[in-house]
Amino acid sequence: MTDARGRASDDRVYDVVGIGIGPFNLGLAAMLDNVTEDVDAAFLERDAAFQWHEGMLLDGATLEVPFLADLVTLADPTSEYSYLNYLRETDRLYEFYFYETFQVPRREYNAYLRWVVDRLNTPQFSREVTTVCWDDDANHYVVTAHHTDTGAQFDYRTEHVALGIGSRPQIPKALQGHPEDDVFHTARYRYNRERVLDADSVTVVGSGQSAAEVFQDLLSRQTDHDYRLDWLTRSDGFFPMEYSKLGLQHFTPEYERYVYGLPQAVKDDLIPNQELLYKGIDPGTSAEIYDLLYRRSIGDADPDVGLFAMTEVRDIVALNDAYALDCHQWQSEESFVHESEVVILGTGYERPIPGFLDPLEDAINWDQKDRFEVTADHRLDLDLSGDIFLQNAELHTHGVGVPDLGLGCYRNSKFVNRIVGRTAYPEDRDTVFQDFSVDQFVKHAPNTSHDTGGEPTSTPTQDD
Ligand SMILES: Cc1cc2nc3c(=O)[nH]c(=O)nc-3n(C[C@H](O)[C@H](O)[C@H](O)COP(=O)(O)OP(=O)(O)OC[C@H]3O[C@@H](n4cnc5c(N)ncnc54)[C@H](O)[C@@H]3O)c2cc1C
Ligand SMILES: NC(=O)c1ccc[n+]([C@@H]2O[C@H](COP(=O)([O-])OP(=O)(O)OC[C@H]3O[C@@H](n4cnc5c(N)ncnc54)[C@H](OP(=O)(O)O)[C@@H]3O)[C@@H](O)[C@H]2O)c1
Repeated sequence: MTDARGRASDDRVYDVVGIGIGPFNLGLAAMLDNVTEDVDAAFLERDAAFQWHEGMLLDGATLEVPFLADLVTLADPTSEYSYLNYLRETDRLYEFYFYETFQVPRREYNAYLRWVVDRLNTPQFSREVTTVCWDDDANHYVVTAHHTDTGAQFDYRTEHVALGIGSRPQIPKALQGHPEDDVFHTARYRYNRERVLDADSVTVVGSGQSAAEVFQDLLSRQTDHDYRLDWLTRSDGFFPMEYSKLGLQHFTPEYERYVYGLPQAVKDDLIPNQELLYKGIDPGTSAEIYDLLYRRSIGDADPDVGLFAMTEVRDIVALNDAYALDCHQWQSEESFVHESEVVILGTGYERPIPGFLDPLEDAINWDQKDRFEVTADHRLDLDLSGDIFLQNAELHTHGVGVPDLGLGCYRNSKFVNRIVGRTAYPEDRDTVFQDFSVDQFVKHAPNTSHDTGGEPTSTPTQDD
């Protein structure tokens, strides 16, 4: 049916419409498909087909979480959409059994996600969402999307919305505006690699996992292509991200609940200072880079490589056949100019508030910094009867676990249970060997109580 403005529309009211198809909304689609209720859902993706961070699908790059953090297993290990069932159905179960590695190749995780997409009937591609409105008379949302090839418009009426648009590459303003073949974000690396290999000099900026993987890839190809390779970062050093077992317990429902309960001002101090929990370099990647440099330098050989930390790239100026990077070492407060023919920016990702929510601006509750107010169960706090489920847009309220693939099932369990109005998936509790809140510790430790009577319970000693 077409309305007066030529938009495809019908009277069907979905239970939920997902905006964006990344791992989180795809997990929601898979988990909804497994419930006994007949849930009417649609998931809309602007790209023509599913690819997971395609520009970074490098050979040898692996997931940073065990394969058990697939779309469904941590909520329902018996689901047909599990990674293990993907291996069974694609006849790779024995090969994986002898692979004996929990961190699977990112290329295979992508293949798994595409396999799930092909089995579901709720994903719709080439649909870019442009507005989300609330229809007061009908008491539901209207999500409008256009077809990215034909421009055709579609209206989806729905009780609830699942916002799953992820993040977008972040390039500091001063570094923008140069030809995309020469100065570009790591998210475009695979598309531009051939051009990079032809350059005389290449500089990688940033020291998160993206920059490290690109640096490693270029380092391994350098001897065949003969370019100078530099790596600059503003971070304190080329430091690893946390990967110890006790440290990883910060990516659990318990820690998330603890962070949510803190005052917002405390969270605003805490979360930016926890970067090495979820940023930084995978220890394996770091070791591989080091070992390659070691082998290259045998016999006093010069690998023609530079690594320099504590250095912000403040500006990029075009020269005749290269770019001048205006650099500042913030600790020694020294500035210098560095020239490079190609610059690859591993400067991270950002999560701006999407413009398509503008029509709901007055209904949304905003915090003092104009960010979403969020409920404990990851919904946008708003004055409407329909829910907007937040996938990966609530780092400021729920902390470091929000972008982590390992907590996707936990969050989606809450969403599915709310949509179907019963506990279709269990909500995990008691998943850690440590406690994060005083209440929890007091509850678990028989020798501890809340009441100190105003005095310390024991006299501190040197060992305390
Ligand atoms: C290279 C890379 C590797 C990572 N590896 C890991 C890892 O191993 N482990 C881990 O825990 N985390 C990892 N992360 C972090 C995080 O888990 C991923 O970014 C993950 O993809 C986030 O999933 P998502 O569903 O939020 O969004 P995304 O995967 O970003 O997907 C969002 C989708 O929404 C679509 N979209 C956006 N706007 C619209 C619109 N208006 N209409 C329709 N569609 C729209 C986009 O096209 C996109 O396909 C990685 C991040 C990167 C960049
Ligand atoms: N294999 C994988 O699974 C994989 C691969 C890639 C990414 N990821 C994940 O994706 C997320 C994003 O990672 P990312 O590496 O893209 O980004 P990131 O972790 O946010 O790192 C950005 C880096 O760029 C630096 N930087 C920013 N602006 C700069 C400037 N002007 N000059 C110099 N340095 C600058 C930052 O320094 P500061 O520290 O000073 O901010 C930081 O070192 C992370 O959670 C990561 O774990 C995972």
